[in-house]
Amino acid sequence: MIFLAKAAEMNSDDGFKMGDPYYCPECERNHIKGQIYKDHLQYAQVPDIQDEEKAEEIEAEKDEDIEEEDLEDEEDEEYEDDDFEEEYDDDFDGVDEEEEEYEDDDIDDDDDDDIEVYGSDERGVEECIEQVKDLTGVGEATLRKLIKAGFNSLESIAYTPPSIIQEDSGLGEKTTAKLIKQAMKRLNVGFKSAETLWEHRKNIARITTGSQELDNLLAGGVETGAMIEFFGEFRTGKTQIMHQLCVNVQLPKEKGGIEGAALYIDTEGTFRPERIIQMAEALDLDYNKVLKNIVFGRAYNSDHQILLAKEAINIIKERNIKLIVIDSLIGHFRSEYIGRGTLATRQQILNQHLHDLLRLCDIYPDLAIVVTNQVQAKPDVFYGNPLQAAGGNIIAHGSTIRIYLRKGKGEQRVAKIVDAPHLPEGEAVFSITGNGISD
Ligand code: GTP
Ligand code: MG
Repeated sequence: MIFLAKAAEMNSDDGFKMGDPYYCPECERNHIKGQIYKDHLQYAQVPDIQDEEKAEEIEAEKDEDIEEEDLEDEEDEEYEDDDFEEEYDDDFDGVDEEEEEYEDDDIDDDDDDDIEVYGSDERGVEECIEQVKDLTGVGEATLRKLIKAGFNSLESIAYTPPSIIQEDSGLGEKTTAKLIKQAMKRLNVGFKSAETLWEHRKNIARITTGSQELDNLLAGGVETGAMIEFFGEFRTGKTQIMHQLCVNVQLPKEKGGIEGAALYIDTEGTFRPERIIQMAEALDLDYNKVLKNIVFGRAYNSDHQILLAKEAINIIKERNIKLIVIDSLIGHFRSEYIGRGTLATRQQILNQHLHDLLRLCDIYPDLAIVVTNQVQAKPDVFYGNPLQAAGGNIIAHGSTIRIYLRKGKGEQRVAKIVDAPHLPEGEAVFSITGNGISD
């Protein structure tokens, strides 16, 4: 497993306590120990022994940074020239020019006929990067910036808002707009027929939860290309279901899995490898392999959680991630943004975080995202169930399927579909046993 750690914790003997401000000579400004900073992303990932090569690459990259700065200057000049040309062209026959440009693109597109919008997993990382490199205006420096910020496929460029690409990669507004336009064109983003959509939905894969009843409720299990939220009171089995899915996603197709790895973002410190071992053994799986296929990240605060979710895009392909778990989605947000005054800010940041996650489903349609959520008592409800998922409407709109969990007798738990665009309302009873989730 790869453990993601906080930058400032790396030097435990630097004499600073958590929360202390300290001067960072690299960024030339004050940092708070225990917080993670974007400028130090390279420290956020503590490499496995096998990943030593990568650590060397990071070192090499640092050296290249100076080079890159030089290149950037050149690039800026290049774009200034471009802009000038464009303006000049616009004055005369700009429209024709643009059309001509796209005719050229179309010729390129013919070569790229095998790009599949929905079957992106068939392509390797390198192939995806090649396609980005192929876009007009992507030179060495631009490519490096894009990859560094996680935009290593046409999908990731096409589906990300321009402001985010700009902010994360440092590319200019015009360049970003051009890249998005091209990426969208090559991916045929636009109106589709319902038939195409149906073709896509027919190919949705499902991960078994371990309980036949719960699977039936979900029309076959946890589906890919969507976000599912399990919410309920404490000890209703949210964390147990998350653990089980991390094991089950690895199962072969005939056993209800999708032969992929899992990424677990733990915000509460409740991930237990021991539990994974128990569940893996119950399924006759080699638990060492199972553990290896779970990439684990502990999020210490909401900023860190957001950062880990953004980082995910860099490892999905490489590690064959088919399931992302966040347990719990809004715990940190809830404790950090206290009081009504900060509610608007919280909702806004949470909304962006959810969109980061949902975008991953657009980019990787064979990825399932499962999150947990606590419940909070809604004081103004006098009849019905006063327990509401925390996070309000934002989460309700972000997650495609919502399941409410409550306690039953003993080991039994009851799951109820609360909100799903395509599933009928219903309930399922399942159990939490020593072997994991079952009927
Ligand atoms: P919070 O995170 O506190 O909101 O709760 P949760 O919904 O995540 O609950 P969790 O998934 O941790 O479920 C806890 C329940 O799982 C406990 O009540 C136990 O009954 C059950 N459980 C956990 N581990 C085991 C185990 O090893 N064996 C058995 N039989 N049950 C377990
Ligand atoms: Mg839990």
